[in-house]
Amino acid sequence: MQNSTRFLKKFLDSPATVGSIIPSSRMLVSAMLAPVDWVRAETIVELGAGTGVITRAIEGRRRTDSTFLAFESDSQMRRDLNRQYPDILTEADAFHLHEALERRGLPDADCVISGLPFANFPRNQQAGLITAIHDALRPGGLFVAFQYTRQLQPYLDSVYGDIARRLVLFNIPPALVYICRKEA
Ligand SMILES: C[S@@+](CC[C@H](N)C(=O)[O-])C[C@H]1O[C@@H](n2cnc3c(N)ncnc32)[C@H](O)[C@@H]1O
Repeated sequence: MQNSTRFLKKFLDSPATVGSIIPSSRMLVSAMLAPVDWVRAETIVELGAGTGVITRAIEGRRRTDSTFLAFESDSQMRRDLNRQYPDILTEADAFHLHEALERRGLPDADCVISGLPFANFPRNQQAGLITAIHDALRPGGLFVAFQYTRQLQPYLDSVYGDIARRLVLFNIPPALVYICRKEA
């Protein structure tokens, strides 16, 4: 079954958790990954990997000696990711980011790349996760997230001083990419 068909089936089963009807476009994936310094990044985290369109692009860019930890709550999609990308580490719940990094003895991340449907999470959980992601980054590290609305912006503004935005029209629906740098 094609990725887009599998993704649509997952969306129909669980629209709030999956958050979109098709995987991110190539343009959105490029916009998400362009700000990362792939020569230096040693610890990479992806949140909400889905069927792996961003995962695959990260695999193509990251250093061979880097560590890549991907979170996906759907167990079937996670199994598929493990099969397709045996070199990456996977975890289920992005809300357990801190515990997962600690349990695996990983250092603070150089970048956290998120496809999570933040807008569908309860508001207090959104704020908590934004803080947890900030805490998980090394000084100068990057948090990159795409969203379909601006509702995450106040949470990002409360934590990051340095935020850039890119609008990606060639995606269904058009998406906003937030590029947030933790103070060095
Ligand atoms: C909008 S899709 C993005 C998928 C893929 N990254 C892309 O860009 O096409 C969001 C993904 O986040 C996953 N997800 C939702 N809540 C999650 C959580 N708490 N922890 C980990 N993954 C989660 C969903 O199962 C879904 O695969």
